[in-house]
Amino acid sequence: MADAEQDDEDYVVEMEGIEKRFGEVVALEDVTLRLRRNEVLAIAGDNGAGKSTLIKCLAGAHRPDAGVIRIDGETVDIDSPRKAKRLGIETTFQDLAVAGNLTVTQNVFLGREEVQGPNTLLGVLDKGAMRERAGELLDDLKINVDVDEKVANLSGGERQLVSISRTLLSDPEIVIMDEPTSALSVEGADRVLELIDRMQDQGISIVLISHNLDHVRRAADRVHVLHQGRSAGVLDGEGVDRDDIVTRMVAGMPESGYGERAANV
Ligand SMILES: Nc1ncnc2c1ncn2[C@@H]1O[C@H](COP(=O)(O)OP(=O)(O)OP(=O)(O)O)[C@@H](O)[C@H]1O
Ligand SMILES: [Mg+2]
Repeated sequence: MADAEQDDEDYVVEMEGIEKRFGEVVALEDVTLRLRRNEVLAIAGDNGAGKSTLIKCLAGAHRPDAGVIRIDGETVDIDSPRKAKRLGIETTFQDLAVAGNLTVTQNVFLGREEVQGPNTLLGVLDKGAMRERAGELLDDLKINVDVDEKVANLSGGERQLVSISRTLLSDPEIVIMDEPTSALSVEGADRVLELIDRMQDQGISIVLISHNLDHVRRAADRVHVLHQGRSAGVLDGEGVDRDDIVTRMVAGMPESGYGERAANV
């Protein structure tokens, strides 16, 4: 059965009827995306399909022009990245925001003061404590990089791991990753996929955007396909047919998929 959604599921995120325009460009039209608690949901789609725009609506980087977002069943207005973080949503964006001239520790804590406020525990951590906390975080995730190393000296894969580990500092409920494996070697991608597994083991619910269908099939419980700003179906990840994903990426929802379309809305 191609469609993999039922009403009695425990959804941590529900985005319904999302629409987003940039001037004349309709980036998203009536998109409904649901993330089950503790699953890895992949979003697949061709360049320009609207993947990044969709997750930016969830991350507080864009405001949808229409639609509703619910987190844990509550309707929310995610009007800033800060609000998203407060709701337990952390994101690594496609254009990786790590600062090469800073150390691993400094990158892990970059921007945290702002998020946590000056009076919280993290706000008053001194340099030594931050170093220690960054070291613990990386150890927990079995990421073997020196916390004092400048990020510019790390490999692309290691940078990606640092960027992902940074999202875990605040103990998030939901982590969104936009193309975390795209620039990586086979080994680098393996490490990121292993990290995704470990995050899932820790109870995190994950949205993974990837062009790499092997990575999608390996990591995802379900695959949501987008085509030209519209949903092209939700497929079960395990044993998912590669051609089924590709056909939907290229041609959208199959004509015969009426029942499926009805179930997805
Ligand atoms: N800030 C923006 N201003 C104007 N148009 C935008 C903006 N962001 C995205 N778009 C347009 O919206 C559409 C969807 O873009 P989006 O970046 O979401 O695609 P994507 O699926 O992430 O693609 P890719 O696989 O290349 O990352 C595209 O037509 C894009 O040009
Ligand atoms: Mg994108």
